[in-house]
Amino acid sequence: MTARPGESPPHLADQAVRIAVRGEGQYDVVVGTGLLGELSALVGVGVSRVAVMHSSVLADTARQVANGLPGESLFLALPDGERAKDLTVAARCWSALGQAGFTRSDAIVSVGGGAVSDVAGFVAGTWLRGVRIVHVPTTLLGMVDAAIGGKAAINTPEGKNLVGVFHPPAGVLCDLDALATLPPAEYVSGLAEVIKAGFIADPVILDLVESDPAAAARQGGPHTRELVERAVRVKAAVVSADPRETLPTGGGIGREMLNYGHTLGHAIEKVEHFMIRHGEAISIGMVYAAELAQRAGRLPAELADRHRRILASVGLPIAYGDGSWPDLLDAMKVDKKARGDRLRFVVLDALARPAILDSPPTALLEQSYGALAGAAR
Ligand SMILES: NC(=O)c1ccc[n+]([C@@H]2O[C@H](COP(=O)([O-])OP(=O)(O)OC[C@H]3O[C@@H](n4cnc5c(N)ncnc54)[C@H](O)[C@@H]3O)[C@@H](O)[C@H]2O)c1
Ligand SMILES: [Zn+2]
Repeated sequence: MTARPGESPPHLADQAVRIAVRGEGQYDVVVGTGLLGELSALVGVGVSRVAVMHSSVLADTARQVANGLPGESLFLALPDGERAKDLTVAARCWSALGQAGFTRSDAIVSVGGGAVSDVAGFVAGTWLRGVRIVHVPTTLLGMVDAAIGGKAAINTPEGKNLVGVFHPPAGVLCDLDALATLPPAEYVSGLAEVIKAGFIADPVILDLVESDPAAAARQGGPHTRELVERAVRVKAAVVSADPRETLPTGGGIGREMLNYGHTLGHAIEKVEHFMIRHGEAISIGMVYAAELAQRAGRLPAELADRHRRILASVGLPIAYGDGSWPDLLDAMKVDKKARGDRLRFVVLDALARPAILDSPPTALLEQSYGALAGAAR
């Protein structure tokens, strides 16, 4: 990364990789280790002060991140996990910024998982109609997904992510050292998004996981860094080509491909009252999408089997029979990716060839769901 004159040791610059996001707002995602104290270059010149919005469990990391930032940082501790994505939390942050006299020459830094980057991005996008934000994701899912792309949302009693903004960050700093304290189950959940990136765009990811699934399933494995980098590149490329999730005119399905596994995945999260992790739900959702595509004659059976093998090999669930089918179908229909009453699924026509399956017959949907119950066979 670019160091401020005379500050960062040059070897850090050499070790870190910068991945550019283009389109609306241009910024870099920096991936490396030992970067937490190196944030000032991403925050940018001319910033007088920083508000560090962090998960309450990551106060130490937040202090480390604030080291070397201009002015005296304001620390805003947020409730843990999904409880942070609440209007009352955003309102408390607005008050704190107002009382501290935060202006447009100040900036926000988020330190935490996707829940924190979402609420911090929302606050940054709305405070004074938009101030600079830099994300420091501390979960695997945050690094490869939530912190990139500029979407930020909070939840309402009516549903998840219903109120939000597009507010691209000024930079994203993925320090792999931050993953050291992440609970293993959270890491594996994030791995579902990494594997998704492998299926929709970069099959080398699948090869790396298959070469040593046990190592892939823990942070600090021999391929952790390459897996993160490759998944970041996939997300960066997709959002660069389709910054606002408008279907591109030049062919391809644009940002919607990131929704692979998410149509059923979101429905499972809903019927399970969000007691299942996101990555676990979309793991099942990807197996379902593969089953659908295979039954629709679009995906070879071997590739559908590869979904089951690779997801199971890192400890992600591939079978599901707990939810009632009518409830899941209803939940899919109200998912915001459905157009009116028609269901749309992202499926694969081949490895790294995502496409849309529009309005599949109800019988096909239900038979594919039936196959999920026995998917562990
Ligand atoms: N805006 C987007 O484009 C986008 C994309 C994907 C997901 N999301 C959102 O991201 C959220 C999920 O993110 P998540 O999976 O990162 O979950 P999360 O933010 O809820 O974090 C999971 C748990 O890990 C803890 N944690 C985080 N980092 C840690 C660390 N380094 N060490 C120890 N504990 C740590 C958190 O406190 C929390 O308890 C959802 O709200 C989802 O809607 C947003
Ligand atoms: Zn997801």
